[in-house]
Amino acid sequence: MEKFVITGGKPLHGAVTISGAKNAAVGILPATILAGDVCVIENLPDISDVAVSLKILSVLGAQIKMLNRNTYEIDTTHISCTNVPDDLSRQMRASYYFLGALLSRFGKAQVAMPGGCNLGPRPIDQHLKAFSALGAEDSVDYGMITVRAKEGLTGAHIFFDKVSVGATMNGMLSAVMAEGQTILENCAKEPHVVDLANFLNMCGADVRGAGTDVIKVRGVRQMHGCTYSIIPDQIEAGSYMVAAAATGGDVLIENVTPKHLEPITAKLRRAGVEVEEFDDSVRVRRTGDILPLKINTMPHPGFPTDMQPLMGVLLSVAKGTSTITESVWDNRFRYVDELRKMGANVQVDGQVAVFEGVDKLSPAPLRASDLRAGAAMVVAALMADGTSEIEEIGHIERGYENIVEKLRGLGADISKVDRAPAALESAM
Ligand code: EPU
Repeated sequence: MEKFVITGGKPLHGAVTISGAKNAAVGILPATILAGDVCVIENLPDISDVAVSLKILSVLGAQIKMLNRNTYEIDTTHISCTNVPDDLSRQMRASYYFLGALLSRFGKAQVAMPGGCNLGPRPIDQHLKAFSALGAEDSVDYGMITVRAKEGLTGAHIFFDKVSVGATMNGMLSAVMAEGQTILENCAKEPHVVDLANFLNMCGADVRGAGTDVIKVRGVRQMHGCTYSIIPDQIEAGSYMVAAAATGGDVLIENVTPKHLEPITAKLRRAGVEVEEFDDSVRVRRTGDILPLKINTMPHPGFPTDMQPLMGVLLSVAKGTSTITESVWDNRFRYVDELRKMGANVQVDGQVAVFEGVDKLSPAPLRASDLRAGAAMVVAALMADGTSEIEEIGHIERGYENIVEKLRGLGADISKVDRAPAALESAM
């Protein structure tokens, strides 16, 4: 029932610190199961997907101690339960990583079947293909998926039919303790894939080649704990880069890996935005017009689909016609309806959206249809002269730590307010 109230029209100025990467954290937390020991995980983002992952670990029997807001000690020595409760696994699609991690350590796992979500169909056939090649059988009963390797897991040669972040990470998780060598081909190369491989290696695994399209995993018998710091969130950083550009601001974005941001930096520069790179920060400044672009979303190192709605908002005020082709998800243009309410001129035909730039966006009542669409609406509201309200902000809080405080620190007029239930509103 909470919403964001944003009065836009002011350029963002100042510095913002980026949190740890959500999509690395939701893989590394289940991976602590493989250590069977104490792990200290630093730079965990304080977001709801991390809270759900920690809750699942705790229900499975891990001992968890919060050392500070972003650092947790997780002892997975005494985990014995391999069934992730239905209600928890359905709160987060990435709970599928518990399948790979539990299967690897215990030879069995049960997790709720991840449903299609609002980005279009989200099959997990490639994850199951990897488990099956290693010797596991899977079955689905009343929405729960069970994987079981009665004879243990044995290394295999797996060629993914589709480049998938989730299947690549689950392939690594399930192979690290299998007997012999596993070769994964046609792998995703995202920074969070590399981060998971680095974490696994710090715990004693033997994973080579992460970040290329062939990953080789030599199974080990036993792993151990470690202290590990999660990489900065590429998409959170990209979101603040776009927010700075979209509002004609000047923002230093700190605690980032500029190399991970290159696909975003390149597009922003082509749009006429100044991006200066430092060792672990980038400065984004815009004084002139936004120039139109052609964008095609692709797996890393291509332009990330998770940045697509944010770039769409920026291009809605470009001087000319831009096109965005969404090549990863079937249904990622739902934010366009919201943008049209603000006066944007966008036509969507299948996987292609054409943006005829308008002079400015006007405030409107908006909703966050998913995490990145929600972040895009925040940026759109920051651009519009006047006050906009955004509903369903729970989606945004799944992936952005402290967004209200961070934006306020840059001079934005944003607050989170409770919305009275409809029945109450009509009685008032
Ligand atoms: N696919 C299959 N079969 C599979 C797996 C994937 O056909 O078994 C297809 C998907 O339908 C999609 C494409 O392959 O068309 C890529 O999907 P991928 O598996 O890479 O996506 P994912 O692992 O489920 C992660 C991120 C998403 C991000 C995508 C693409 C996490 C938890 N989620 O999802 O992030 O969009 O990779 O980069 O890592 C977000 O953070 O907002 C978000 C949605």
